[in-house]
Amino acid sequence: MTPTTSHPLAIAAKGLRKAYGDKTVLDGIDLAVPTGTIFSLLGPNGAGKTTAVKILSTLLTADAGDLRVGGHDLAADPQAVRAAIGVTGQFSAVDGLITGEENMLLMADLHHLSRSEGRRTAAELLDRFELVEAAKKPVSSYSGGMRRRLDIAMTLVGDPRILFLDEPTTGLDPRSRHTMWGIIRELVSGGVTVFLTTQYLEEADELADRIAVLSDGRIAAEGSADELKRLIPGGQVRLRFTDPVAYRSAAVALREVTRDDEALSLRIPSDGSQRELRSILDRLDSAGIEADELTVHTPDLDDVFFALTGGAHLPNQPNQPKETVR
Ligand SMILES: Nc1ncnc2c1ncn2[C@@H]1O[C@H](COP(=O)(O)OP(=O)(O)OP(=O)(O)O)[C@@H](O)[C@H]1O
Ligand SMILES: [Mg+2]
Repeated sequence: MTPTTSHPLAIAAKGLRKAYGDKTVLDGIDLAVPTGTIFSLLGPNGAGKTTAVKILSTLLTADAGDLRVGGHDLAADPQAVRAAIGVTGQFSAVDGLITGEENMLLMADLHHLSRSEGRRTAAELLDRFELVEAAKKPVSSYSGGMRRRLDIAMTLVGDPRILFLDEPTTGLDPRSRHTMWGIIRELVSGGVTVFLTTQYLEEADELADRIAVLSDGRIAAEGSADELKRLIPGGQVRLRFTDPVAYRSAAVALREVTRDDEALSLRIPSDGSQRELRSILDRLDSAGIEADELTVHTPDLDDVFFALTGGAHLPNQPNQPKETVR
């Protein structure tokens, strides 16, 4: 029985602290990642995400904290932790001078796989990451996305049960990103635990069971994507007009609007429910006004992120309408 089985938490950190000189990067954070789930650490540049990944994956020593990974104490038994995990760093660790396949076989050697097993694993992973065609070419000729895929494929050679992925999809095109999400989901359905950092809130929203937002050395908020979104008040309905006369009449007909006279758009705080939409449409109808566009914006992780990490949160300027009603 692996220690993971008797410890439901794959990753547990209490009071994790790290400073570089007099700059405190992690100011005593707590993390708890249940086995077989995806945990996403979000935070602006320099928040300490990579530092946390490096510490939890034994590449860096913490200043303080009770840290357990795969049921093993990081300080007492880093070797056992290393055997349980795989790490894909933020920056590529592949050797550019040799081919993708040679990189994979090198990893297989490091994991003491037999020659035939190494070849089989390498071939399987190269196929899974759509690198078969590129396998015999030197990595220096790969695109950024291909390198990233090779990076992660190499991490999977040892069949790690706990996977640390530091910005795994940065620089990937949308299709490759979706492929990567599929692979991550597949790993998790096979019982793997994934600790993921990302700059893409959509990615955390899409993948993570739980999300923690790191800001100023602390966890500013933690929860499921839905729980985090609930921290941010209110959605809104946005109406756009091309006719300035219709725009002005609508501004009068509807109460509680925020006007944008230049864009000829109005924003109305709303929960986006059918009843509220109907009431807005009724009022427009009875005033004989037709909007050119109506969109409903519900708070998304971007809003949460900006609100929690001290960025300029502009509740009246939705970045992405979630749903176009008409
Ligand atoms: N070896 C080091 N020596 C001194 N300071 C460091 C070192 N490594 C990181 N830092 C500092 O620690 C802070 C956190 O860095 P870290 O790389 O963990 O951030 P991050 O959240 O991963 O950022 P990014 O989103 O840009 O990858 C930054 O202020 C960084 O400058
Ligand atoms: Mg980083």
